[in-house]
Amino acid sequence: MKNPFLKIETISKTFKGLVALDNVSFCVQKAEILGIIGPNGAGKTTLFNLISGFSVPDKGNITFEGKNITSLKPHQISKLGIARTFQIVKPMRNLNVLENVMMGSLAHSFSLKEAKIEAKNVLELLGIPDKSQFFAENLTLPEKKRLEVARALATRPKVLLLDEVMAGLRPNEVDHMVSILKEINKQTGLTILMIEHAMRAVMACCHKIVVLNYGEKIAEDTPEEIIQHTEVIRSYLGQDPC
Ligand SMILES: Nc1ncnc2c1ncn2[C@@H]1O[C@H](COP(=O)(O)OP(=O)(O)OP(=O)(O)O)[C@@H](O)[C@H]1O
Ligand SMILES: [Mg+2]
Repeated sequence: MKNPFLKIETISKTFKGLVALDNVSFCVQKAEILGIIGPNGAGKTTLFNLISGFSVPDKGNITFEGKNITSLKPHQISKLGIARTFQIVKPMRNLNVLENVMMGSLAHSFSLKEAKIEAKNVLELLGIPDKSQFFAENLTLPEKKRLEVARALATRPKVLLLDEVMAGLRPNEVDHMVSILKEINKQTGLTILMIEHAMRAVMACCHKIVVLNYGEKIAEDTPEEIIQHTEVIRSYLGQDPC
């Protein structure tokens, strides 16, 4: 077995007695696309907050490329190559779309000109180049979600954490985003962790799925196996996710 690229080891997080994550462990290999699914409140976003340094676990360790990153700050983790999007989109409202994406590309480029070219390329890739001069706050929600992905991608991450970026997208828009992510993964070997309720996207994209329920990992398997899993059907899929 290869050394895991990203290792989540017996992670727990409690908020004033509420157990958001309970002893969760799993590994992610380089270039893998991992889906994280589960009902509302299962602990999915909390898990991303821990991986990206926005919150610190009560217990357990997170290792990335052999380095313990458990207590690092968000900017340190970002510098190591882990980028994230936010479930509640947070564009810089007073900057236009291009400038928002440049916030990402400037993380590795010292030249404004280069950062601008890279930001334009990423916007092109995500299909929102014609909105580059719009103020971010004037975008529709699906466009804001794509902008989140663009800003994160522009940092040239090794790992991309996507928190419900398909929410609110129409089926054809979901398919478009899926094809973009699969292509980037194929071309560059980018490792992707995606929290999604849109099973259409998870089934089309993911090599493996981790299922959380009330903070516990109840299953980890291929998409084909997960949809047959009795406890997953009982606790989540039976609730008709979409
Ligand atoms: N900062 C916080 N303070 C208090 N409770 C929190 C905090 N963050 C999360 N929680 C609680 O922890 C639990 C897990 O929340 P989390 O946001 O991780 O769920 P989720 O799986 O992302 O849900 P959703 O699918 O609705 O986005 C919930 O009960 C939530 O209310
Ligand atoms: Mg969430």
